[in-house]
Amino acid sequence: MTEKHIDEATGVATTGHEWDGIRELNNPLPRWWVWTFYATIVWALAYTVAYPAWPMLTSATTGLLGYSSRADVKAELAAAEAGKAQYVAAVSTKSVDEIIKDDALRQFAIAAGAAAFKVNCVQCHGSGAQGSVGYPNLNDDDWLWGGTADQIYQTVLHGVRFADDADTRVSEMPAFGEIIDATQVAQVSAYVATLSGAAAADPAMVEPGKTVFADNCAACHGDDGKGNRDLGAPNLTDAIWLRGEGEAAIAAQVKAPKHGVMPAWGGRLGDTNVKELAVYVHSLGGGE
Ligand code: HEC
Ligand code: HEC
Repeated sequence: MTEKHIDEATGVATTGHEWDGIRELNNPLPRWWVWTFYATIVWALAYTVAYPAWPMLTSATTGLLGYSSRADVKAELAAAEAGKAQYVAAVSTKSVDEIIKDDALRQFAIAAGAAAFKVNCVQCHGSGAQGSVGYPNLNDDDWLWGGTADQIYQTVLHGVRFADDADTRVSEMPAFGEIIDATQVAQVSAYVATLSGAAAADPAMVEPGKTVFADNCAACHGDDGKGNRDLGAPNLTDAIWLRGEGEAAIAAQVKAPKHGVMPAWGGRLGDTNVKELAVYVHSLGGGE
C-alpha cells in the first residue's frame, strides 16, 4: 500500500495498516510528551556521567561527582561509632545511680546490659532472668544481697562466694545437722514453713520450732525471719524459695545447707560492662 489513506470520519491520515477493514489513525505524539521523553534521555545520560554507572571490565565508571554508597555507609558507621564511644565513655566515668538518672544513658546501658546478659548470665539465671532452684530470679523484688542499683553492681562485680575475688560476698549457713538434733530440725522446719503462711504437717512442732529458730537462726535470718541482705540470708516469710518449698526442702537446707556461687564479673568483663549489666538487671522490675 503506497498511497496515503485518509480516514473519512476524522480527516486524519492512517498508518496504512489494515486488519479486517480496521485502520489505525496516525496521530502525532503530543509535543509535551515528546519533549519530556527527550529530557529524560538527557537526564539519564547526564546521571551516568555524574554517578557511578557504566560497567567496565573490573569495576564501573566512578562518575564525576565521586559519590559512592560504600563511602556513605562508612561515614554513617563512623558517626554511629563516635556516638557509641561517647556513651561508653560516660558509662565508664559515672556511677550506676548517675547513669540511671540520665535517660539516654540509661537506655544505652540497658541495651548493652541486655546483650551482655544473654552471653554471660542466661545459663544460670535463665533466658528471662527468671532463675531456677539455687539460682535467684532477678525480676522479682526478693533480693538476697540487695536490690539497689549499687548493690546489684557490687554483687555482679565481685560475685558471691567466689574464691578468686577478695571482695566477693560471703557468709555461709552452718550445717545444723551437726548442731541441733533431728527433732529440733523437724521443729524449726515446721516453724519456718508457717512463716510464709503454709500449714505445718504437725502443728505441735511449731511452738518449739520458734524457740529453735530464735536460738540458732535469727542471727542471720532475723527475729521475724525476714532475712538479712548483709549476709545474703534469704527472707523466709515471702514464699519465694531459692532451695525449694516445703518442710522437707527446709529440713534438707538446715541439715546440710547448699550455698550458691556466682562468679565475679569485674575481672572478666570490665567495670563498664558490669555497670551496664547492673543497670539492666535493676530495670527488670525488682530494682529498688
Ligand atoms: C555459674 C552460674 C551463674 C552465672 C553465670 C551468673 N550467676 Fe548470678 N548468681 C548465681 C547464683 C548461684 C546466685 C545466688 C548466690 C547466693 O546464693 O547468694 C547469683 C546471684 C546473683 C545476683 C544477686 C541476686 C540477689 O537476690 O541478690 C545478681 C544480681 C546476679 N546473680 C546477676 C548476675 C549477672 C548480671 C550475671 C551475668 C554477668 C550472672 N549473675 C551470672 C549464679 C550465676
Ligand atoms: C550464718 C548465717 C545463717 C544462719 C545462722 C542460718 N542461715 Fe539459713 N541461710 C543462710 C544463707 C546465707 C542462706 C542462702 C544460701 C544459698 O542458697 O546460697 C540460707 C538459706 C536458708 C534457707 C533456704 C531459703 C530459700 O529461700 O530456699 C532456709 C530454709 C534456711 N536458710 C533456714 C535456716 C534455719 C532454719 C536456720 C536455723 C536453724 C538457719 N537458716 C540459720 C544463712 C544462715
